[in-house]
Amino acid sequence: MSENTGVIVKVSGPLVVAKGIKSPKMFEVVQVSELKLMGEIIEILGDEVSIQVYEDTAMVGPGEVVYATGETMTVDLAPGLITSIYDGVQRPLTELEKQSDSYFIKRGIAVPALDYSKKWDFVPVKKVGDVVVAGDCIGTVQETTLINHKVMLPPESKGGVIKSIEKGSFTITDIIAVLDSGEEVKMLQKWSIRKARPTNSKRIPLEPLVTGGRSIDTFFPLVKGGAGCIPGPFGSGKTVTQQGLAKYCDAQVIVYVGCGERGNEMTDVLVEFPHLKDPNTGEPLMKRTILIANTSNMPVAAREASIYTGITLAEYYRDMGYSVALMADSTSRWAEAMREMSGRLEEMPGEEGYPAYLGSRTAQFYERAGSVNCLGNDGRLGALTVIGAVSPPGGDLSEPVSQNTLRVTKAYWGLDSSLSYKRHFPAINWLTSYSLYIDNIEKHWEENVSPEYITVRSLALELLQEESKLEDIVKLVGPESLSAREKLVLLTAKSLREDFLFQDAFDPEDAYTPPKMQFNMLKTIVTLYTVGVEKIKEEDFDFKKIENLEILEEVAKVKDLPKDSFEKYEDLRNRLTAAINAL
Ligand SMILES: Nc1ncnc2c1ncn2[C@@H]1O[C@H](COP(=O)(O)OP(=O)(O)OP(=O)(O)O)[C@@H](O)[C@H]1O
Ligand SMILES: [Mg+2]
Repeated sequence: MSENTGVIVKVSGPLVVAKGIKSPKMFEVVQVSELKLMGEIIEILGDEVSIQVYEDTAMVGPGEVVYATGETMTVDLAPGLITSIYDGVQRPLTELEKQSDSYFIKRGIAVPALDYSKKWDFVPVKKVGDVVVAGDCIGTVQETTLINHKVMLPPESKGGVIKSIEKGSFTITDIIAVLDSGEEVKMLQKWSIRKARPTNSKRIPLEPLVTGGRSIDTFFPLVKGGAGCIPGPFGSGKTVTQQGLAKYCDAQVIVYVGCGERGNEMTDVLVEFPHLKDPNTGEPLMKRTILIANTSNMPVAAREASIYTGITLAEYYRDMGYSVALMADSTSRWAEAMREMSGRLEEMPGEEGYPAYLGSRTAQFYERAGSVNCLGNDGRLGALTVIGAVSPPGGDLSEPVSQNTLRVTKAYWGLDSSLSYKRHFPAINWLTSYSLYIDNIEKHWEENVSPEYITVRSLALELLQEESKLEDIVKLVGPESLSAREKLVLLTAKSLREDFLFQDAFDPEDAYTPPKMQFNMLKTIVTLYTVGVEKIKEEDFDFKKIENLEILEEVAKVKDLPKDSFEKYEDLRNRLTAAINAL
């Protein structure tokens, strides 16, 4: 333990002010009091430092000691991260619980993030004499059945010629390669959580992140490397949506950050996730997942850190060339933690008491998303998609966290309490939600799903928008005033809502719809309009005849058709067309 110590002069909740530490550094890790509570220096003013403490500071007071460590706050990056469940500062939760006798986590427990004694089978992909640069993969380790871990030269490496490298069984701190410069390479990298990991360059994201959610994939898609947000009032389905993404989206690695939400919501995740199977591979989902849990009963400062811990781990797997998705639930609790710390630092408050840097911190966080050319000369491509839930009080989006988030995310899934009251799930409001990624994925969707994707999607959205206008008219003057075409719009839009947009997250069959099936479902429903609109042009056509068509019952059950035999949808469309034309 270093001899560099200071003395506490003030304790204010998670904020401790100390003086006497010699040459303190910003973001230096310190241990507070004889309890050795973990903290981080977040402000230096002359002789005094402000320390954000990641554990409960009850019973800690002025006069007590603070130990400086000389090290900045970093996370451990090496094989063993996948399947882990961490707190906000990368302490394994199971270890914390083991060492605490009660439900509440004991203070001052120092547990390593990774198992330093476990040996991993390292297989070199480079050989002696090869020239390598920072970011290059020098070998691999099979981390889980789903994840082949790329052991990379760390970003700060000077690179050089490999002098020695060997296949074998190593711990994460063993030397696995030596460069001609004398640089010794280990599997373990350390990285400061508040600094984005470098890449060669960003790329324009062109591939959709397929989620199996019909409202999302078809209407408001996200791309691999994109940033999306889910704002929604209390109980509108943010957590269910985020968990659905974590289960079903086609990213290769998932980092799920439970940030400041109620303990029971996180317990659901912690209990449920280890039993879930990946629908694509049949393997347990945990084999591609890292969970970070910082629930509302855990220290507020660690909540502030949890978002950064999560995104740093996510970036590390992106660097390996994986498509990674990070879900943060809820970024509002993160912003509140920031507000609390800022208040205690007595900083000048901005809007609604949030610090003036709320906007820049939010932007910095979402900017860490991206589709990238990974660091190094291997030509790896990686992607990091970020999806943040936002919980505006009372659902009022004019508040600062929502506003700052909207500015930097390009897919917006606005959850609506009027829909969740009606039990329309997901409660994604199709009138207010949007995606600015349509142009990015258009080509991919046309080649891989259908050339008609854009036309059918646009028509469906127009029908839904027209429905909302017509509903206002109906409220004012009654349904009699509507033309046959308008009645057809309402009939089709109702089917779009009930038979396409409504999707039960708790029904294993319904919860995931592959893109091609989504398209076929949508096209089938829209056929009602495209064929019907010609038919009703006939003189004295009685609209009731369309409403009473028996085949509409089959259209209403379109989601029960098989997920992959699209001739069944084609057949239904043909019969629907024939039935309308025969009227
Ligand atoms: N897609 C869905 N399918 C079926 N039910 C859903 C769906 N989404 C939400 N629900 C229902 O709504 C309830 C509340 O959802 P959820 O817990 O996700 O809301 P939340 O927005 O995270 O709330 P909070 O603000 O309290 O965190 C769920 O328990 C579930 O019953
Ligand atoms: Mg929730």
